Amino acid sequence: MVHDSKRVIVVGGGLAGLAATVRVVEAGLPVDLFSMVPVKRSHSVCAQGGINACNEIARQQGYSEYMHFDETLYGGDFLQHQPPVYEMTHWAPRIIDLLDRMGVPFNRTYEGQRDLRLFGGSLFKRTHFAGATTGQQLLYALDEQTRRAEAAGHVSKYEYWEFLWPIVGDDGACCGIVAQDMRTMQIRSFRADAVVMATGGCGLIFGKSTNSLICTGGAASRCYQAGAWYANGEFIQVHPTAIPGADKLRLMSESARGEGGRVWVPRTEGDERHATAIPEAERFYFLEEKYPKYGNLVPRDIASREIFDICVNEKKGIGGGNMVYLDLTHLPADYLERKLGGILDIYRKFAGEDPTEAPMKIFPGVHYSMGGLWTTYSPQEDLKGMVAGAPNSMMTNIPGLYAFGEVNYQYHGATRLGANALLSCIFDGLFCGAGVATYVGDRTTKAADMPASLFAAGVTQEEAKMQRLVDSPGDENPYEIGRMMGEEMTAAATVVKTESRMNAALEMLHELQTRATRLRLSDTGLWTNQNLSYARALVDMLRLAEPILLGSIRRKESRGSHYRPDYPERDDEQFLKTTIAEYDPTSGRPRLHFEEVETGLVPPRARTYGRVEASADPTPSPVTSG
Ligand code: FUM
Repeated sequence: MVHDSKRVIVVGGGLAGLAATVRVVEAGLPVDLFSMVPVKRSHSVCAQGGINACNEIARQQGYSEYMHFDETLYGGDFLQHQPPVYEMTHWAPRIIDLLDRMGVPFNRTYEGQRDLRLFGGSLFKRTHFAGATTGQQLLYALDEQTRRAEAAGHVSKYEYWEFLWPIVGDDGACCGIVAQDMRTMQIRSFRADAVVMATGGCGLIFGKSTNSLICTGGAASRCYQAGAWYANGEFIQVHPTAIPGADKLRLMSESARGEGGRVWVPRTEGDERHATAIPEAERFYFLEEKYPKYGNLVPRDIASREIFDICVNEKKGIGGGNMVYLDLTHLPADYLERKLGGILDIYRKFAGEDPTEAPMKIFPGVHYSMGGLWTTYSPQEDLKGMVAGAPNSMMTNIPGLYAFGEVNYQYHGATRLGANALLSCIFDGLFCGAGVATYVGDRTTKAADMPASLFAAGVTQEEAKMQRLVDSPGDENPYEIGRMMGEEMTAAATVVKTESRMNAALEMLHELQTRATRLRLSDTGLWTNQNLSYARALVDMLRLAEPILLGSIRRKESRGSHYRPDYPERDDEQFLKTTIAEYDPTSGRPRLHFEEVETGLVPPRARTYGRVEASADPTPSPVTSG
């Protein structure tokens, strides 16, 4: 079916964006695909460890799609609407088959089966992988499919274009976008009958993170300021194992622990011996001792809090500092190269040591946002899944504006399990892309017929914003304000959050918002001006940081990644709810309300992961099997 003169815009060239593009084209609609970078350098390329799905081999261990569903809810501390999670986990095997047919070089066993590895929050091997560069392999496969559609004339790619604003018509529906060519700095509007935001996370709000430097959250913030709701902003994932760097943090995949890597610190405080000289009995494998069932593969929020506790509170980090060992040295080098080659190379390059010979030194780092643009869906009557092709599948509260992938708040609740991100991105694109096509097909108003004045007004608004920044006579350095925001947000709103610290951060945020009205750009030229792009994103990050902080303050409980020692228990009665932030354009502040969560399939239960009190004595601890 071809819809005469109707088209769809997809913003973001990562896995969610490419999967959506492929699916929408398949439904007969042309796509304009926008990306700030060449699509093959979208942040999905950095994903390492794998993608979860039950398959026949997993089934032989006693695993099932239902268990994947249940594990995902348990990991997320039951904060998810359950029908979308049910659908995603039951679709997962088909997604792997499809990727395999597209040529993804999944690791295989010697018998030729797709290999599986352990990953956080599961006792079963159910994670498919391509070495430790899984995201790259998946992205390249979907890129090829997109190029096929492009060659056939169904996709127009706008690489090095930055999304600036969604255009909303008088009927309240989204009918296009304003975007800027990052080379010529030309600002243009584009018409579309539906717009899919697939713009990823907002790690840069926290300064250094494992995210790529384009992951500012600027696009999400612009949609939020244009009226889209932002949900569960307070749930930020801190990955337990990153390598600190002067510029950013670099992920050391959870797959290192999935393949048998062990986290430890010396038992004796201030032990200055090289790691390889510390005998087994003098090593404290604290995750294995406290969580004998899951060991090093407890979910990320738990592992990060334990590492934080060991280093910051107990001062048992390496050399008394903020580092612990992630040890692979007990595993055969050829096995490690085959399974983890990609991350071994990253560690060698950035840390200058060989992880096959000496334990890596790691510390937790901001990695992922469970929160994102609020979206809706159509549940099946029995709640077991979503209605296929329903036009509202992952649509925001602005009709015709969709959110797919990390920028969509669905699926992961209070903590995302490792290797569920690639799955949710591709699932959104493939399953919910069909809903976009239905919406566009059903719609009687065409973007092509909307008045030109609407699109011209969008351009005028963004040109004025740009000019204000370029002409600003202020004295504030945007990078300095960005640094202060990042340090403050990391200190106040990541692993451990207290009311007083967050209130202080909120005050500082307001101060920084005021200072950001007086920015001075070091580059005022109108050719590839990255300084302008960052400064504009900074203003938007400062806006988005506010619902993240405010949600953390209002949620007076502990749940998944949101840990408040002042409210250490989960409180289902008051907070088994989605936090929704609406932007108030008059005050420039968020207004929060809470929405019930659909938990009709699995009643919430205590999330303990079998924790026991760790003994301080040097009892031999079990090894996580590979
Ligand atoms: O640790 C990792 O390989 C990350 C995977 C993920 O975030 O899903």
